[in-house]
Amino acid sequence: MRRIMVVNPKGGCGKTTLATNLAGAYASQGARVVLADYDPQASSLAWLSARPSDRARIAGVPAVPGKELKLPRGCEVLVIDAPAGITGKPLKQLARTAQTVLVPVLPSPIDIRAAARFLQELLTLGRVTKDRLRVGVVANRVRTRTLIYQTLYHFLRSLDVPFVTSLRDTQNYIRAADRGLSITEMAPFMVAYDRVQWEPLFNWLDSAASLPRPKKG
Ligand SMILES: Nc1ncnc2c1ncn2[C@@H]1O[C@H](COP(=O)(O)OP(=O)(O)O)[C@@H](O)[C@H]1O
Ligand SMILES: [Mg+2]
Repeated sequence: MRRIMVVNPKGGCGKTTLATNLAGAYASQGARVVLADYDPQASSLAWLSARPSDRARIAGVPAVPGKELKLPRGCEVLVIDAPAGITGKPLKQLARTAQTVLVPVLPSPIDIRAAARFLQELLTLGRVTKDRLRVGVVANRVRTRTLIYQTLYHFLRSLDVPFVTSLRDTQNYIRAADRGLSITEMAPFMVAYDRVQWEPLFNWLDSAASLPRPKKG
């Protein structure tokens, strides 16, 4: 089973946006997707309840940190929307459920500082240092011509983990969220540019580089 978690203790950086877009994309490709929502605000599950019934089905699971995740049978792709504020032991526990962690970061001084602190913690987890868990960062709500994007870009480039893609700041994500859809399920002419930006992310997630290193022997 493919297990992808979206995490960043900072609220509003795009965790739910990434999680729901991943879930929608994999489901529309025919995979049996489970979306596990650890956020007490349950935004991912709210997205799911807005999802039209004629769209590829996604199973939503409300989840609680520290409690075992009960997955429906036949799950092929598990997407985890992690709660805001998570660090320390709960982060360590949650990290055990994933193969790949995506960290969205906004172009703002506060978000960059918070992400630096969080990544320092994440990258020293045993599972990460042993390549049992792979980490990738994503710049979100980007406006490329701004100075702060340049700062974010250099920060993400300077890290020891893949800087997988930059997603622009666009109403398309708001519209998709409203309709229970992912970007890949919207009218292609509307989201052509956004699809291009998602491509490196899907390619990375499809590659061995985002999967745990196989155990020797
Ligand atoms: N790339 C983007 N462009 C425009 N709006 C975005 C983008 N990413 C997220 N948003 C909006 O920003 C808000 C916070 O994003 P969300 O995914 O809910 O963050 P989190 O789950 O980390 O709290 C939401 O209203 C969402 O629709
Ligand atoms: Mg959220």
